[in-house]
Amino acid sequence: MVIKESRFNIVMRRTATILSVVIITFSLIAASTGILLSIYYEPASGRAYESLKMITDQIEYGWLFRKAHHLAGNGVIFIALIQIVVMFLGRKFSKSWYIAWVNGIFLTLTVIGLSWTSMIFGWDQLGFWRFNIELGTIEAIPLIGEQLREILTGGSGVSTLTVKRLYTIHSYILSTAAIILSIVHLFSVLWLEKQVSTPQELIQDVGASVAES
Ligand code: HEM
Repeated sequence: MVIKESRFNIVMRRTATILSVVIITFSLIAASTGILLSIYYEPASGRAYESLKMITDQIEYGWLFRKAHHLAGNGVIFIALIQIVVMFLGRKFSKSWYIAWVNGIFLTLTVIGLSWTSMIFGWDQLGFWRFNIELGTIEAIPLIGEQLREILTGGSGVSTLTVKRLYTIHSYILSTAAIILSIVHLFSVLWLEKQVSTPQELIQDVGASVAES
């Protein structure tokens, strides 16, 4: 089915397509640099800080991989948020638009989750105390708060077990989800592109209607 659309919608759709390519690129950079970091990173309370320091100071290009992971990871959050707005402005209530839109929201939440889970990876004062404050907020959630806190910390206070759990959630569960969501997002935006008429077709349509009249 071919859907007719305004010039504004065409610009929004093209922007969404470009942003979905940027999102998948950043996600892949984050995933690959994350895997490289995991070679030397040690998710343990006594070793996390030292291992990240070693990656920066002693491993060849270690600083570059850390920087790339930081920029790509936070970049996905930034671009995915813009994408939600762009897609909303150029909204087109078709199946592919709904899939891309809902998918984009889940992707944004997943990447925010990735950033959140990395809070204590550095095992520094700021991350440690910030995480403790956030745990207090989680604990205050009615019905599930207590259990959620236990699942995240591994029982008692913030310890090696906590870093390990958050690292597992970050590096296996959420990163896999982010990659899958980025791929689905890209394909649904491309599908949307295929469904709507191109500017060239619009020009031809206008030409045809002028000739008819
Ligand atoms: C789509 C995939 C991924 C995304 C979007 C992502 C995102 C992030 C973000 C936003 C941070 C915080 C960086 C900062 O603000 O400094 C981070 C840190 C980190 N991530 Fe990932 N991550 C991904 C995959 C992975 C994977 C697969 C691993 C390991 C197997 C991993 C290991 C780490 C480590 C060790 C840190 C701490 C790095 C540091 O403090 O410099 N990440 N990640």
